[in-house]
Amino acid sequence: MTASSQPFAGKIAIVTGAGSGIGLATAAGLAAGGATVICADWQGAEEAAASIRSSGGTAEAAGIDVRDPAAWSALAADVMARHGRIDILVNNAGIAVPGDTVIDVSEEVWDRILDINAKGVWLGMRAVLPAMVEQKSGKICNVASTAAHIGLRNAAAYCASKGAVLALTRQAGVQYAADNVQINSVSPGTTMTGIQKDITDEQRAAFLPLTPIGRFAQSPEVAAAILFLCSEGSSFITGADVSVDGGMVAL
Ligand SMILES: NC(=O)c1ccc[n+]([C@@H]2O[C@H](COP(=O)([O-])OP(=O)(O)OC[C@H]3O[C@@H](n4cnc5c(N)ncnc54)[C@H](O)[C@@H]3O)[C@@H](O)[C@H]2O)c1
Repeated sequence: MTASSQPFAGKIAIVTGAGSGIGLATAAGLAAGGATVICADWQGAEEAAASIRSSGGTAEAAGIDVRDPAAWSALAADVMARHGRIDILVNNAGIAVPGDTVIDVSEEVWDRILDINAKGVWLGMRAVLPAMVEQKSGKICNVASTAAHIGLRNAAAYCASKGAVLALTRQAGVQYAADNVQINSVSPGTTMTGIQKDITDEQRAAFLPLTPIGRFAQSPEVAAAILFLCSEGSSFITGADVSVDGGMVAL
């Protein structure tokens, strides 16, 4: 790769949920662009970092449950101690759980979905923003969903959690705009990743007519939008959401 194709050279990036799917594609893309990537996940982080290193990138692994405030504090402190800065955070870790309707979702599952998908995003931003504000530079990209924009069947807590991601992204984008920290989100449509194991083939098939492009996304197609929002090219974009959904919410 030439110097001009290294938009993330010298950048220190943390990607949650980097063990698979959209997070892994994002971590690989950041590393290919020259970043040092901390692959943060509660499973698969070591394997993700090793696969990036085997492709010539620079990557480290961090085992973390994004619901754990102490783990976030320790991760941010460790990255600052070893690298002296945090330039990019991609809050991507998330879950979906089958049987998620207002009537049927249990309190335990509601709390688990909201804690990972929404509280985890807040905790991640809270951990890195002091460094970014001090540096007077930073990029945060949160992964929301079409579920934040439209009511998806069998996804009550999931829709609520992603709506929270969208609202928090907007608020934080405004709050830290003057500190030169750009905070945005992407809203993927159906993307062929591990999370799809929690959705039946019948449910997935129902999404196809709602997707004008006529197919589902692959992880690198979502990662491409995340990479743009983490690049210098997004310098005047903050508090915004980019739909990467084949036209679903435009329908
Ligand atoms: N795949 C889709 O169709 C789709 C659509 C819209 C939004 N999204 C969102 O994209 C994001 C990435 O999901 P994906 O599709 O790549 O699925 P995935 O299951 O392949 O990846 C999710 C990753 O998050 C990690 N994770 C889950 N809970 C965690 C926790 N508590 N702490 C740390 N890591 C945790 C998992 O270990 C996994 O590696 C999620 O936020 C998801 O809601 C996915």
